[in-house]
Amino acid sequence: MASDLLDRVRLGGTVPSHVAVIMDGNGRWARERGLPRHLGHREGMKSVREVVEGAVEAGVDILTLFAFSTENWKRPAQEVSALMGLLQLYARKERTELRRQGVEVHVLGDLERVDESTRSAVLEIVEGTRGGESLRLNLMISYGGREEILRVARTLADRVQAGHLDPDDIDNTMVEDLLFTRGLPSPDLLIRTSGEHRISNFMLWQLAYTELHISPVFWPDFHREHLFEAVLDFQRRERRFGRVGAGIEAS
Ligand code: IPE
Ligand code: IPE
Ligand code: MG
Repeated sequence: MASDLLDRVRLGGTVPSHVAVIMDGNGRWARERGLPRHLGHREGMKSVREVVEGAVEAGVDILTLFAFSTENWKRPAQEVSALMGLLQLYARKERTELRRQGVEVHVLGDLERVDESTRSAVLEIVEGTRGGESLRLNLMISYGGREEILRVARTLADRVQAGHLDPDDIDNTMVEDLLFTRGLPSPDLLIRTSGEHRISNFMLWQLAYTELHISPVFWPDFHREHLFEAVLDFQRRERRFGRVGAGIEAS
């Protein structure tokens, strides 16, 4: 099943270079089974492994996973600490395997808000996977799109105030160089699981022309075949970037 889909992906045309995922639905997955929410998050770790491997198989270059938002700090303390514990577990358990697969992990977000032991675990996985060439994996932790843009605004305002920058010289490139994603292309495809049709403060700048794929599947049930289906859906799209479509004559 998965290999058939993978063959179709390979024959289907362009594979998105950068795929971003809003991994959602862990709590509902657990509730459906009468389990506590943290067991949904734990199960979701398996899907991370699946999707990372699927991305490597499909030939995706960059995979960006929304793991914890700035708004998720508002969840009950017990859930926040369960999530931080799982991030540590993931970082410690997967490091060797990710390195073997050639996955280079980066962590993007406001790590200052993250507790010391979680921060050191994630920095270790970043360190331990450096140089991997098959896939760049961005883990977005304590990340918010608005906060990211505010940081850029503050930096540019400081430069203007110090007399180093003329506001007329501010352009897309200058802003992009100050985002957490500096140097990376924008996502080609955004997948949100669990059927929610919203962005929830994710990559607000970068998603301007990203193709959206909403999957009804809860994150813990999301496997590589779902990723391949999303890529096939992407391959059927016509990206126009504000221009007229291909084959349309000027009139
Ligand atoms: C996604 O699952 C994980 C995080 C946001 C950290 P949720 O915990 O949001 O699951 P639902 O949306 O309540 O089902
Ligand atoms: C978005 O999911 C954040 C992550 C997946 C990390 P949420 O579950 O927090 O989003 P809302 O609250 O449904 O918008
Ligand atoms: Mg949710």
